[in-house]
Amino acid sequence: MGRRGLRYEQVAGHIRDQVRRGVLRPGERIPSVRSLSRRLGVSVSTVVQGYGLLQDERLIESRPQSGYYVRAPARRPPAPAMSRPESYPVPVTVSELALQVVQAYRTSGVIQMGTALPRTDFPGVAQLHRTLATLARRPDSRLRDYDMPPGNDALRLQIARRAVDAGVAVSPDDAVVTNGCQEALVLCLRAVAEAGDTVAIESPAFFGILQAVESLGLKALEIPTDPKHGISLDALRLALEQWPLKAVLLTPNFSNPLGYCMADARKEELVTLLEAAGVPLIEDDINGDLNYQGNRPKAAKAWDRSGNVLLCSSLSKTLDPGLRIGWTLPGRFRDKLIHLKLVNSMASATLPAYAAAEYLESGGHDRHLRTIRKAYRERRDRFLELAQRLFPEGVRVTSPEGGFIAWIELSHGIDAVQLYHQAIQRGVSIAPGPLFSPSGKYGCFIRLNFGQVGFEDMAKGLSILSGLLSKPG
Ligand SMILES: Cc1ncc(COP(=O)(O)O)c(C=O)c1O
Repeated sequence: MGRRGLRYEQVAGHIRDQVRRGVLRPGERIPSVRSLSRRLGVSVSTVVQGYGLLQDERLIESRPQSGYYVRAPARRPPAPAMSRPESYPVPVTVSELALQVVQAYRTSGVIQMGTALPRTDFPGVAQLHRTLATLARRPDSRLRDYDMPPGNDALRLQIARRAVDAGVAVSPDDAVVTNGCQEALVLCLRAVAEAGDTVAIESPAFFGILQAVESLGLKALEIPTDPKHGISLDALRLALEQWPLKAVLLTPNFSNPLGYCMADARKEELVTLLEAAGVPLIEDDINGDLNYQGNRPKAAKAWDRSGNVLLCSSLSKTLDPGLRIGWTLPGRFRDKLIHLKLVNSMASATLPAYAAAEYLESGGHDRHLRTIRKAYRERRDRFLELAQRLFPEGVRVTSPEGGFIAWIELSHGIDAVQLYHQAIQRGVSIAPGPLFSPSGKYGCFIRLNFGQVGFEDMAKGLSILSGLLSKPG
């Protein structure tokens, strides 16, 4: 670090220290840039840089025409407790409500907090689209062919390279390209289970997974799941003894809707447990790249020694869901997967696969990931501040460390489906809790997407919801 770098960090450290000692208190104005530059004998730009650092840390904020102030410490609403679903397998029927919620997305003028769509106004997404446009003009017949399974070679090479960040060592031959993560999940379920079989899922679980289970005539066994640590391994152990499970389907990294991220040791324990039981793990890792801090969490597949883990993912949450670029690393089920992919949809779209491969190879994706992680983290912080301020006492909200989804427990007596209808009428879309359970649980929970809306719409949406929560009916 150069001398200049050292100086602006010293400026930041000076203010941090005063806040820690209570000399500067929340809401108070901190010294102006000029006065601190005189007092510490450093340049004005050094102080500005130091204050920039403190703003990034959300310790201070700048108020236009007024100066810099110590921010109020972020108070957070309490989180919901471990879920307690039914302890027996049930058939699944969530598709009608799911369809309504998804279709609300088509209504313009609605503040969209009900679906799990990402923001797509990032420079990285524009770069991918430019690559797509360039390729579309190229007179190369390969760009117009069917892209038969296992799919585009160059894309599978990039998938294998990026899997290293998740601790997964695979070759391009281990990957099968699919139409989004959803197709990957359906094909993996079909590879390991047949109608009438039971699969274990986290509870609450993403409704796309529930609908896949429903459409294949499978039964779902919901496993109690903690919003911070993930599924209860003890409950899973019992379930394995009690039921003839054909698979376990989980989202160990930033699940939808709970947002939990399982610790490495628990992932390892999970993989070892399922390998010993001979039950495949279908791992949905679609949100794995959306961590706010530190390194990307490992996938459970990082501990897979026997090909028992079928990892599914896509570019839908990190880049553009419209391109439908997904894949699976199906381990020992690879041949079956390739056949099922052919039967199910013949091939995946050729041009987006080439464009994604070229974009990923160009090297800008890591920068893009840093940008979106920061953007979603800022939104999470703002969302929790607003939730704490606006929601009535007793409402519980998860505080995820990645992704852009929050799971909210409302006061007992509130009907989330009714709230969904009221909110849509007032121009806000939300996802009601019963969508996330095959046994009709979570009647007083909702899921909100805090990542896609602007700050202004977020505040507006939450104040409309809080109005409805304060006087239901
Ligand atoms: C957890 C999870 N898995 C899978 C999917 C489906 O992803 P894709 O759009 O890539 O098919 C979603 C989309 O919302 C999701 O949230």
